[in-house]
Amino acid sequence: MSAVMDRGAAVAAAFERYRNEPGALLCILHAIQDSLGYIPAEVVPDIAAELNLSRAEVHGVISFYHDFRTQPGGRHTVQICRAEACQAVGARELEAHAKTALGVDYHATCSDGSITLVPVYCLGNCACGPSVRIDNEVYGRVSSARFDSLMAELKAGAE
Ligand code: FES
Repeated sequence: MSAVMDRGAAVAAAFERYRNEPGALLCILHAIQDSLGYIPAEVVPDIAAELNLSRAEVHGVISFYHDFRTQPGGRHTVQICRAEACQAVGARELEAHAKTALGVDYHATCSDGSITLVPVYCLGNCACGPSVRIDNEVYGRVSSARFDSLMAELKAGAE
């Protein structure tokens, strides 16, 4: 993710690439989020105008899909798998622990801006659950204690 991309450039690039594609709205929203890290409220009118939709329609899609963020995320993203195989081996306990340990619910960011906690439905690591992805790296058999040490490492490493 290139969080430094200028907002106008990110929107223009997304329009240029996807405006004529089927499912353009979702493609454009993903492209903007990939570039900026979130979808600023200020770009919704531009998207609506570009695709000949109402602002409410664009807002509706953004709020329907939990993957879309409307606020800047933390420096790191921590995803906890909530799918069945991981739940069978303790993912529910892990997610409760993670929320308490980080002091946030899903889709929220720690007060120091370090970590955004996000649920995910399968990381392709089902035989080694509970599974967690930290930024682009997947970890298996994550106990509460291991989660704490991973988070401590993440915060110690800062960026
Ligand atoms: S069910 Fe968790 S990684 Fe597949």
